[in-house]
Amino acid sequence: MNRDFRLGGDLPINRLGFGAMRLPSQQGMGGPSRDPENGRAVLRHAVELGVNHLDTADFYVSVGGEVRANTLIREALHPYPSGLVIATKVGPVFGPGGLSHGTPADMRGFVEANLEGLGVDRLDLVYLRVGAMEPPHGESIADRFEALAALREEGLIRHLGLSNVDTGHLAEARAIAPVAAVQNHAAQSDEADLLFVCEESGIAFVPFFPVGGGQGLDDERLAKVAARYGATAQQISLARLLASSPVTLAIPGTGSLSHLEDNMNAAGITLTEEDLADLA
Ligand SMILES: NC(=O)c1ccc[n+]([C@@H]2O[C@H](COP(=O)([O-])OP(=O)(O)OC[C@H]3O[C@@H](n4cnc5c(N)ncnc54)[C@H](OP(=O)(O)O)[C@@H]3O)[C@@H](O)[C@H]2O)c1
Repeated sequence: MNRDFRLGGDLPINRLGFGAMRLPSQQGMGGPSRDPENGRAVLRHAVELGVNHLDTADFYVSVGGEVRANTLIREALHPYPSGLVIATKVGPVFGPGGLSHGTPADMRGFVEANLEGLGVDRLDLVYLRVGAMEPPHGESIADRFEALAALREEGLIRHLGLSNVDTGHLAEARAIAPVAAVQNHAAQSDEADLLFVCEESGIAFVPFFPVGGGQGLDDERLAKVAARYGATAQQISLARLLASSPVTLAIPGTGSLSHLEDNMNAAGITLTEEDLADLA
């Protein structure tokens, strides 16, 4: 297992972590509930297998809020093992009129909901989730990020991150407070510039949908390389992400114990130059 990234410069984590969005519901947010006992078993097994970076949000809930990712994490793992890093996201508001973003004044309530849900006094990493799937180019995030930076100064947050942003948002935020991680869509086209800034500055780059985001991975190139290793397309997708940059972290999500084991085994696959060329 690669245990070789220091989040925010001071939190050692394995680059292969776990995303909790699909534990409450296979469909992601607001879908039909999954069995909570299974979700807790997956979380415990993830930690047994060496996961020490969980990605969650207070809004990762099944329909009607019946099953909540933060509650599953707390019930399965609290008191948390030493070294476990839990990243969460704040920002969006899901109302009857659809998705909007919270105001700077809303940030305290968002943070407090995560503190309570996870049962902690301080959150390890809080992303300001700016866009929904894509960065809203040109939109200022300064007011919202300043509000989070003030909560960090107060001691409620250890590190700050950004999600669904572009290089302009990252620069705007870094003028306010340090940014420890950026989380964007794995397949977004304009990632190269963002990744470059992250590499230069030791900022974690965390692509979501690392194994296809629930759409499967029907890709000839992945299948070809997977055949060389007797591996699955999902394992090669994770191995490729881990090979793509030393600052890239993977957070595959699953509610299946066997998929979890497959995903964790991807850390043992070292792709060759030929493999990477075939995947390009
Ligand atoms: N910042 C954002 O806007 C944002 C957006 C989306 C997601 N995220 C974060 O990113 C994490 C990962 O994203 P995601 O869960 O949507 O996408 P993902 O990890 O790419 O894909 C998860 C889906 O793939 C299936 N799967 C996982 N491992 C598999 C394997 N080895 N073989 C076959 N199928 C497998 C899972 O089904 P089973 O459960 O049946 O295994 C699930 O449906 C989330 O948990 C969340 O923390 C962030």
